[in-house]
Amino acid sequence: MLTIPKEKLPIHIACIMDGNGRWANSRHLPRQAGHRAGADTVERCADFCMTHNIPWLTLYAFSSENWNRPKTEVHALMLLLHEFLKKRLHQMMEKGVRLHAIGALSRLPARTRKLLQDSLEATSGNTRLNLVLAISYGSRGEIASAARKIAEKVSRGELQPDAVTEDLFGEYLDTAGMPEPDLLIRTSGEMRVSNFLLWQISYAEIYVTDTLWPDFGDRDMEAALLDYSRRKRRFGAL
Ligand code: FPP
Repeated sequence: MLTIPKEKLPIHIACIMDGNGRWANSRHLPRQAGHRAGADTVERCADFCMTHNIPWLTLYAFSSENWNRPKTEVHALMLLLHEFLKKRLHQMMEKGVRLHAIGALSRLPARTRKLLQDSLEATSGNTRLNLVLAISYGSRGEIASAARKIAEKVSRGELQPDAVTEDLFGEYLDTAGMPEPDLLIRTSGEMRVSNFLLWQISYAEIYVTDTLWPDFGDRDMEAALLDYSRRKRRFGAL
């Protein structure tokens, strides 16, 4: 049971879902079994956020670097994403989940891209939880793309260089219009940010747990939130 006052809870949690492979290895299972178990954790986490009125959850489902994994694993992850969208759309509608996606979605297989677009549209009126999936996502690529779009506008004379503020830059990122994460959780003990939301996590509190993503449950989330609620967020000021 969570006893943290509402104002000490984050509005937006972002997760680097790491450790699926190790979870599978330790059980002598193929890596794909770890990813499959990880997809169940996604649902648990989303339910947790809804129970505790945390309105934004962003999950790093597939990085731009993950395309370099063996073909069989990439294929399995794409299949899992496809199944996830197909199976869970009904639940998302019932529960009031609005799906968002960030990343280079044009690289996804055509049928998955179509299913994703349909799911984004179908859920666009839902308001209980904003579930953001980072797919084929890399933060440096996202920032470079924003810089490119701004440079094009400047070169066409549609934008003055001194109009390029932090706020304006943010509007050219995939996350335009979304609140910045307050809490970044990384599972499996790795102390890395791995090209995830580099711009957006400037002032996020970081929480790393040794728990592997497929094992990450309500207790782990509660521990992360308790830790977060005790942090003094000063945003660089006193
Ligand atoms: C990192 O673990 C995890 C991934 C590359 C994929 C994350 C995907 C899921 C949790 C499931 C699919 C999600 C959705 C939304 C359907 P790793 O493979 O790097 O683990 P390791 O470091 O232990 O090898």
